[in-house]
Amino acid sequence: MNKTELVFVPTPARGHIVTEIEFAKRLCERDRGLSITILLIKSLSPKLDSYIQELASSIDVSNIKFINLPHVDPPPRELKNSNLNFFAAYIEKHKSLVKDAIKNHVLSKSSTQLVVLVVDLLCNSMIDVGNELGIPSYVFFTISASFLGLMLYIPFRHSQIGTEFSISDPDSIIPTYINPVPSRVLPSYLLDKNGGYSTFLSHGLQFKKAKGFIINTFVELEHHAVNSLESDKESPKIYTVGPVLNLDGIQKQIESDPNVIMKWLDNQPSSSVVFLCFGSLGGFEPPQLAQIAIALEKSGYRFLWSVRPPPSKEAKPNDYSKFSKVLPKGFLERTENRGFVCGWAPQVDILGHDAVGGFVSHCGWNSILESLWNGVPIATWPIYGDQQCYAFQLVKDLEIAVELTLDYRFENSDKLVMADEIEKAIKCLMDSENPVRKRVREIGEKGRKALMDGGSSNISLGRFLEDISVNKSEESVDAARPT
Ligand SMILES: *[C@@H]1O[C@H](CO)[C@@H](O)[C@H](O)[C@H]1NC(C)=O
Repeated sequence: MNKTELVFVPTPARGHIVTEIEFAKRLCERDRGLSITILLIKSLSPKLDSYIQELASSIDVSNIKFINLPHVDPPPRELKNSNLNFFAAYIEKHKSLVKDAIKNHVLSKSSTQLVVLVVDLLCNSMIDVGNELGIPSYVFFTISASFLGLMLYIPFRHSQIGTEFSISDPDSIIPTYINPVPSRVLPSYLLDKNGGYSTFLSHGLQFKKAKGFIINTFVELEHHAVNSLESDKESPKIYTVGPVLNLDGIQKQIESDPNVIMKWLDNQPSSSVVFLCFGSLGGFEPPQLAQIAIALEKSGYRFLWSVRPPPSKEAKPNDYSKFSKVLPKGFLERTENRGFVCGWAPQVDILGHDAVGGFVSHCGWNSILESLWNGVPIATWPIYGDQQCYAFQLVKDLEIAVELTLDYRFENSDKLVMADEIEKAIKCLMDSENPVRKRVREIGEKGRKALMDGGSSNISLGRFLEDISVNKSEESVDAARPT
């Protein structure tokens, strides 16, 4: 039997690679005739790199194989505030390695009849490699359909306006958003010529060369955005396959003992705890921590709070291990009976615990999906990247979250979110009468159903598998095969 072989190129970033490996597993479960080769680009962070290696070695699926790409020297860091540019240049330097790996490890196998490339959205330069080899490329989006719409909108806007956004610009009409989008919730890199605008623009242009878009969302959540993407006949075909989540939960971590946290939760009443967690890069300086502490104390609610240092400082994650040093004097003692402060937190397990009734979140897309999956409503506190856009979408377009802030930015973190705003949002979030609670439970249910037999994402995944086998072009594989 001739084999279909998918080659994945994930981005070496937690939120991307975890989801993409999970998606690969799902594909193999669905179609046992598939083989998947996952090409691993080395992360520039040794800690993340060992995490990725550990993750890869934990995957026990015979049809999934990992190949480590050789080390590549990073490009020079020219501009201070341009992580997006730097990262795109780093990925781009892997093109020939990806090409060689596909030639030597995939195309060389005589049993392989069909090869399809699945690249992470930030690895879109690999679409060129696919084109050179005559292999169709699909882009995997670990972001919302609405944000993909924003990325596709930028080249169009650029052709009209020719420049980056400014904070004083009028609201933008972006087809995938229901409401006009204010500049204050756009990603910082769109507001800064040197900070990634050109890279963001080129990503949008590059996407159009792909054969299709696989998106980690579900139609019931993003009706409007999905319809809008589908109605653009110029744009590649889309497949909504979410929620793709890694629910395996607790992994060993050195900082906090997850069992202690889970035991504490076991002793709290149902839906009584507000959980505060801001992602692996989300942390605050002591003045902001103090405002949160005051709000928690005044709100009277039970809380579980993951406190981490901001990534800007040369601080190590465990620099905040003595919480009494960074939190207001006496706070820990006064809230001892109803609060728990930890460092790293096993977010997936916590959100799945019956005691958790609300989530104050940085609004990363994966965190949003995890929270919805468990029917836990969010109060929005975006910090960087695409998070402000998600917060806006959840609060204004979808009305399934409580607004704490929509436009907080890591770069302006000297501007504090004050205790009374935080307290107000927490009270609104935890109010059992708040209609947002019911809507979130319902949409969470719909997300679970989307994956079941006959659900929207189940059907969409089936369509993807059909479409790639229709693409089948023996000639191109044979032509690309090394002789
Ligand atoms: C989804 O649909 C396919 C058939 O198209 C089926 O084989 C698969 O098991 C379904 N269900 C789930 C839960 O994936």
